[in-house]
Amino acid sequence: MNVVEMRGITKRFGSFTANEDIHLVVKKGEIHALLGENGAGKSTLMNILFGLYQPDEGEIYIHEKKVQISGPTMANELGIGMVHQHFMLVQPFTVTENIILGVEEKSSGFVQYEKARNKVQKLSEQYGLKIDADAVIEDISVGMQQRVEILKTLYRGAEILIFDEPTAVLTPQEIDELIVIMRNLIREGKTIIFISHKLKEIMAACNRVTVIRRGKIAKTVEVSETDEKKLAALMVGREVSFEMEKKEQKKGSIALEVKDLLVKGFHGKMAVDHLSLDIHKGEIVGLAGVDGNGQSELIEAITGLKKIEQGSIFLNEVDITKFKTRKIIETGVGHIPEDRHKRGLILDFTVSENMILSTYYKTPFATTWGINYTEVEKYTDRLISEFDVRTPSIDTPIRALSGGNQQKAIIAREVDRDPDLLIAAQPTRGLDVGAIEFIHRRIMEQRDKGKAVLLVSLELNEILKLSDRVAIIYEGKIQGWVDPKIVSEEELGLLMTGSKQAGGDAI
Ligand SMILES: Nc1ncnc2c1ncn2[C@@H]1O[C@H](COP(=O)(O)OP(=O)(O)O)[C@@H](O)[C@H]1O
Ligand SMILES: [Mg+2]
Repeated sequence: MNVVEMRGITKRFGSFTANEDIHLVVKKGEIHALLGENGAGKSTLMNILFGLYQPDEGEIYIHEKKVQISGPTMANELGIGMVHQHFMLVQPFTVTENIILGVEEKSSGFVQYEKARNKVQKLSEQYGLKIDADAVIEDISVGMQQRVEILKTLYRGAEILIFDEPTAVLTPQEIDELIVIMRNLIREGKTIIFISHKLKEIMAACNRVTVIRRGKIAKTVEVSETDEKKLAALMVGREVSFEMEKKEQKKGSIALEVKDLLVKGFHGKMAVDHLSLDIHKGEIVGLAGVDGNGQSELIEAITGLKKIEQGSIFLNEVDITKFKTRKIIETGVGHIPEDRHKRGLILDFTVSENMILSTYYKTPFATTWGINYTEVEKYTDRLISEFDVRTPSIDTPIRALSGGNQQKAIIAREVDRDPDLLIAAQPTRGLDVGAIEFIHRRIMEQRDKGKAVLLVSLELNEILKLSDRVAIIYEGKIQGWVDPKIVSEEELGLLMTGSKQAGGDAI
């Protein structure tokens, strides 16, 4: 039976068409993937199914009956639940309080907390969610918070569950656990729509996959009859190469040397705790770790954004420990920051203004009479063509560009200065395969030119694919070094959580 059928759905935002004549059929008991690049229109389509948006055209059938979904309450009544990309939980409340919010059962005016609590606990056990009904949200991990969102939909009787990019916030182990939970849900008769742009997960977890490209359906296929390469081509509209040809490494002398570094974190605790690390010329060192183990503070310390309590940092034998950010940049550090909106760009500035953020005061841009805009334009034109930054014009506010193009703009700016050390933090987060491939090549080029690269990423396959050596960071220390050619993603995952020690000596 078709539990969901969306027929000819079109949704416009002003003059922009986010969904165009989309047909989607989801069968009972399947895990149906919705795959597409960023901005393809996946969330829009599912927000329509959940009643958050009204389509401009098209019809929706639930259990083969035509419906008009006026809002999330009605979606709930039809048995549709949605776990959003950004959770909507009240932090100081308990799991149970969050789950019953809005649907409290009352008896003579009092909320039946015990009854609700027992129901939550039972549901958690039934689906293998391992949730403590009395835990307070702010004390539990992001992965657990996601499960609370899942429970919330189950508590409301959802039969059709929509997961919008659920794995984006999870570690590899948590992703595996989520896949198990999804299987449990299916076994108990539920149907799942799983949004992702990660091909591997779709191949591992789903029955069928519908690919959306630029707001239109590219195709629906059986997972068993396709592979990652075919899906990538459908998604991007061209062949994508996954293999990165890695040239023979020409490892030079030490470029970056971090010695016994101490940096305080947000709560005054040591976020970087006696950390030492080195990177050679012509080498990519990958820093693998669960988010929040000192990666951000280490980068902030190297780039002069955070105070160093103790220890030292050398770049090509120059002691930069006490340098200010501008001087560090001038000494030869490029930085692709983790938060591209906060640290990488000024969103209301134009594309060209963003290109000269760290060089505007130098020749040829700065003159006695002010900024030479002809030079700025020439420079920007060259960068956007070399780095394939797609923008209506160089005078467009950079806010208007897609995430992938914003990221390419940052990379263009940082790489073009030809830094001796390039720090790339989460360089492809949230991007799709086409943009990822491009960015990986650019990072690899720096290495092949004899530069040092520090790659910090939560994507383990990115770390393994690009790095020459991998350092594991755990609670502010380097736990050990592994060889990316021989370590598996699973092993790396275990090392990152401190549950396994890196075997052998430093490599
Ligand atoms: N409320 C909105 N107003 C205007 N444009 C929107 C809105 N929601 C989404 N869009 C645009 O529609 C396109 C598809 O977005 P979305 O459905 O979120 O993509 P996906 O989930 O596939 O990444 C994007 O270009 C986005 O900017
Ligand atoms: Mg989305």
